[in-house]
Amino acid sequence: MAVRRILTGDIPKLRVKSKKVRVFDKSLKKLIQDMLDTMRAANGLGLAAIQIGVPLRVIVIEMPPDEETSNKGKLYTLVNPEIAKMEGEEEGEEGCLSLPGIIGEVKRAASVVVEAQTPNGKWVRVRAEGLLARAFQHEIDHLNGILFIDRIEDPHKIHYIEQTELAQAI
Ligand code: NI
Repeated sequence: MAVRRILTGDIPKLRVKSKKVRVFDKSLKKLIQDMLDTMRAANGLGLAAIQIGVPLRVIVIEMPPDEETSNKGKLYTLVNPEIAKMEGEEEGEEGCLSLPGIIGEVKRAASVVVEAQTPNGKWVRVRAEGLLARAFQHEIDHLNGILFIDRIEDPHKIHYIEQTELAQAI
């Protein structure tokens, strides 16, 4: 169990393009465990490795159970994820563990297909919609140095809140 410090703010370290993982070894498993510990300690829904200062293409997402959609309370640990397909458009509220105190209304694809490797290197395809699709797009953006505020053109769609109000940071 290792909770790491989450980098915050619009800082150069969060703007780097993360590198592909090529070696699926014990240190990758340790990184993923640290990411899960850190995400859960911060009550987040998702985290990219760069948010704890590691510029590798690794994301974790843990969804709360949602009875309205087919998305179960499921854990995703994806390595080298790429969006293979995007469909539709949906504007929704987003927060980020690296931008505490800010939420915004962000337009994202309504559904996506993500291709990625598991922590053991096996290729998988994941289809997602709603909040899970949003979380995948947000985390993959992190791997490319993109923050959700970059995707908001209208400044009125950025809101400043008490940190404690932020329930769904990704
Ligand atoms: Ni984020």
